[in-house]
Amino acid sequence: METANYLKAVRDQYEAFPYPPRNPADEKVRLENSWHDFLELINFYCFKGRNNFSQEFLVLVAGGGTGDQTIFLAEQLRYNRHAAVVHLDISEKSNEIARRRAEVRKLANITWVHGSVLDLPSLKLGPFDYINCVGVLHHMGDLKAGLQALRSVLKDDGAMSLMLYGKYGRTGVYQLQELLHRINLDATDLQAKLVNTKIVLDSLPKTNWFKRSEDIIGDHNEFGDAGIVDLLLHAQDRPFTVDELYDLVEGCGLHVIELIERGRSKYKVESYIRDKQILERVSALPRRQQQALAELIAGDMIVHNFYVARQADTVALLDDLRNVPFYFLDPPRNVLELIDRNPGRSVKVESTLYAAPVEFVPGPYTRDLFKYLDGEHSLKEIFEQIRRDRHRSVGKFRTLAEMQIPV
Ligand SMILES: C[S@@+](CC[C@H](N)C(=O)[O-])C[C@H]1O[C@@H](n2cnc3c(N)ncnc32)[C@H](O)[C@@H]1O
Repeated sequence: METANYLKAVRDQYEAFPYPPRNPADEKVRLENSWHDFLELINFYCFKGRNNFSQEFLVLVAGGGTGDQTIFLAEQLRYNRHAAVVHLDISEKSNEIARRRAEVRKLANITWVHGSVLDLPSLKLGPFDYINCVGVLHHMGDLKAGLQALRSVLKDDGAMSLMLYGKYGRTGVYQLQELLHRINLDATDLQAKLVNTKIVLDSLPKTNWFKRSEDIIGDHNEFGDAGIVDLLLHAQDRPFTVDELYDLVEGCGLHVIELIERGRSKYKVESYIRDKQILERVSALPRRQQQALAELIAGDMIVHNFYVARQADTVALLDDLRNVPFYFLDPPRNVLELIDRNPGRSVKVESTLYAAPVEFVPGPYTRDLFKYLDGEHSLKEIFEQIRRDRHRSVGKFRTLAEMQIPV
């Protein structure tokens, strides 16, 4: 790498401990998915539901690490001749692991770049339709410069998926980082720090904030040494509140499209507040303030995943007939059964894997809508199909000519 547009300590860390640790051979048995990179979801939030991904679609995975997002996006775009993915990272070791994963899958649509996010304006790559930059900006010295560099290679109608650490949810992490910093003052290298860290982790009392948050934070258990280093011994790590995140994004001339955590309910005040009066008052606040309150109430947002774009109006609209409605990840297959079981009564569709439960009273066409909602047909096509079905069910209509009264 020719430039020094990155923090050396951060690069050294990821050369020694690529993150997340992945074994290329595992590609033969499973595909890691990064759920905010499902094309359906990207389409819904970032392209008004109008992108069928058959045209040019250029993707940048910035700080792609060992390749989770790169592989998942490239796999989904495998059969689009006009799509391509660029994977960029400062860690050669991480790039190598990601490249070997792609080889196992025989993915030929990825370009590998060893470089920094800050090099992007001069690298002559892009411009991109979609940029994924997950868990990277908060490890940069000047993350506003980082986001601006990403923006400079984003198409005017493009969008990004970002992830920044959540400040309140990681309270225990920062207390432990501080403790380890003081304990490790004399430790000369990462290996020595790791030894101390494991001793500390083993001796934490139940009252410790990190210990208390172990049910929501598990990298140190799941990813071994690499997880411990990434979580507790990071050379550069800055978390964000919802408010700080909006300031950063808007300060770079971008819009926050939506904050999502496997659905939007996590960031909605109505998910938590039951009192009608308080809810009414709070619901009148701007969306940003409501989301900031949700963060304070929930307390467990360890990361913030969100889409940003140059344009403000990128989300699909329900009254847009071109929209292709879809179930996100896990179709609740029993909806038709539930509607049939309680005709005219309220139906509660339980959350399957990720979404919050939804309750509604079926209208005259609800059953038909669910029947044809398959993620492939547009609302227009679904309505036309329902019209055709309904015609059949009431028998053949007389034609206008048949109904003419003879004079
Ligand atoms: C926590 S890992 C996340 C990897 C990947 N995005 C994921 O979520 O699986 C952070 C990655 O950002 C990379 N990184 C840090 N600073 C960078 C910079 N200035 N430019 C490019 N990559 C950077 C690191 O090398 C590391 O691979």
